[in-house]
Amino acid sequence: MATYIFNHALIEHKLTLMRDQQASTLVFKQNLDDIAKLMAYEITRDLPLKDKDIITPLCPMTGKELANDIVLVPILRAGLGLLDGFRDIIKEAKVGFLGMQRNEETLQPEEYYAKLPQNIENDHVIIIDPMLATGGSALAAIESLKKKGAQHIVLACLIGAPEGVKIIEDHYPDVDLYLAHLDDHLNEKGYIVPGLGDAGDRLFGTNE
Ligand code: PRP
Ligand code: URA
Repeated sequence: MATYIFNHALIEHKLTLMRDQQASTLVFKQNLDDIAKLMAYEITRDLPLKDKDIITPLCPMTGKELANDIVLVPILRAGLGLLDGFRDIIKEAKVGFLGMQRNEETLQPEEYYAKLPQNIENDHVIIIDPMLATGGSALAAIESLKKKGAQHIVLACLIGAPEGVKIIEDHYPDVDLYLAHLDDHLNEKGYIVPGLGDAGDRLFGTNE
């Protein structure tokens, strides 16, 4: 398993629009939707397929269909910002929710909500969250999903810090990590630099 960094021209362009502190909630969400769709397209490129016999208007043929169900799991709140774009591309996906609040003093994640589909052992689970900072929230999410039996887990984030990437690679080498961009470092408050600030606040127009 591996870490993939998109380095995609259109994603870079849209990410810069989002990072700009002048970006309105509207601009932020529009670009997040677009990037989510591009990420979903790339992440699903090599999913396993199985044969499916059908009859076209012209003749019988053996087509392909996804071998496993897909489960999208946004980490609340900010992960919701990626959900619309992913669902636009994968409309048949099941959706589970994990609420993780990062304690801003200890930087430790606290799970406050969990609602996941049943029987996800064979499903392809895609955790979505814009920010991978210390990696604590993502680690806790992966742990919750593994406890529920998930065996195929992918983590998709917009921006990652090297610290967060390392913690995922060290703890869960079986989890593929997809990042739109790898940023420079974390500051003393655990914010990604240069980053985009607090993703949840920028997405929902709050200022906690
Ligand atoms: C943000 C973000 C991640 C987490 C990343 O959520 O959406 O879930 O921080 O930080 P970490 O890698 O250090 O755990 P936050 O806790 O701010 O909650 P919110 O989405 O409700 O704003
Ligand atoms: N969470 C955010 O929303 N932004 C960061 O930079 C780090 C954690």
